[in-house]
Amino acid sequence: MTQPSIYQQVLDPANRANPYPLYAELRKTPVTREDDGTYVVSTYNEISALMHDPRVSSDPRNRTGVDGATAAPERAQPEPALSFINHDPPDHDRLRELAMRPFGPPQTPGRIDGMRPWLTEITTGLIDKFADKNRVDIVDDFAYPLPVTAICQLLGVPLEDQPRFHQWADGLIETLDPATGTLEERMRKKEEVLADLGQYFSHLVDSRVDQPGDDLLSGMLTDQGQHAPMSRKDLLATASLLLVAGHETTVNLITNGMLTLLRHPDVLDRLNRHPGIVITLVEELLRYEPPVQMRTNRTTVADIDIGGTTIPKGSPLALMLAAGNRDPSRFADPDSFDPARIDNAHLGFFGGIHYCFGAPLARTEAQVALQELARRLINPRLVTDPPPYRPNPELRGPRHLLVEYDSVAP
Ligand code: HEM
Repeated sequence: MTQPSIYQQVLDPANRANPYPLYAELRKTPVTREDDGTYVVSTYNEISALMHDPRVSSDPRNRTGVDGATAAPERAQPEPALSFINHDPPDHDRLRELAMRPFGPPQTPGRIDGMRPWLTEITTGLIDKFADKNRVDIVDDFAYPLPVTAICQLLGVPLEDQPRFHQWADGLIETLDPATGTLEERMRKKEEVLADLGQYFSHLVDSRVDQPGDDLLSGMLTDQGQHAPMSRKDLLATASLLLVAGHETTVNLITNGMLTLLRHPDVLDRLNRHPGIVITLVEELLRYEPPVQMRTNRTTVADIDIGGTTIPKGSPLALMLAAGNRDPSRFADPDSFDPARIDNAHLGFFGGIHYCFGAPLARTEAQVALQELARRLINPRLVTDPPPYRPNPELRGPRHLLVEYDSVAP
């Protein structure tokens, strides 16, 4: 039997707890070709160049199989409405702008900052429930509920409907995980969940047409900008995208954050005494333990010369963000967790035109969550290190994170 490639070893769940030595191996050859025709790119400058290269497409319709053979079913038949993460310009830019206008600056500068007091309240409520025990699971009891609740709040989903969203978010995340069932089973499940979600959003949109609120959905519906209005199909695709893109990623940022802090008790203590350090600390987490470790959804639409290799047109790419984030040619002492790092243009939120749309919300959630955990848990410690991980190599994070503590500060 042939030896698995380094990339195959990265995909192996047995290496999920610590893939970083494998990334160091990968970086020795910045661009490598897998037997299935995928090009794996692992160094900072090369990843960064490809992120900004218009010859790299995010549209699954550009993906053919190896050597131009028939595309895999999930690649050949995208859903009826592709969300903007799966579009190239000009459609990407038009749809992203329509969603951005009611979300952030310059048109709506206060939306995310305005959510901070509310996020603090939700976080406080979750930690209050820790008071009558000495051990919690940071994933199930804390990090998991927060991001879905935040996206519901953002979109204007009424409180009583939110439990259904948690189920849909879980269902969709499951379908992203290659380890869960066959491709057909996952595609069927995804279609079921998206159909339920679409139906729900459709009713919600109807109610907002009559009575717009101060939420993102109403904002997208009533926008008067150059490209307005957003079609109903695109509106539904965008709402589902926000749920999928903003859920597990943020869960993993908060969980990876707490894990890293518990492994660096001096930093946890500093955060407790100087909460302001949280800003650079969260950026460093996005570099050191990025929730999105790689992206495998890109295809070249022309031959590209990079890192001493010519990647042929039509090749699938694996952009190894987490390997780029530890590239010693870009970051000083890259394997050290330095919460005060200033020169930190990490790849955790990607780059170029697809730079994470929800970054301001993700940052705010993680800042509030980690500040409050550091302040309120007295003498917290890890129960198991390393914790058990989910198998997914792309959206990497612990399945559970058991933490014990002496008491909870008010
Ligand atoms: C720590 C949390 C998060 C991380 C690490 C993260 C990371 C990323 C990355 C790497 C991409 C690029 C994906 C690609 O082009 O293939 C991306 C795009 C995106 N993210 Fe996030 N994300 C996070 C949270 C969020 C949140 C909370 C939201 C929603 C409110 C969100 C919405 C999006 C959207 C809509 C895109 C597509 C942008 C585009 O194609 O122009 N993300 N994110």
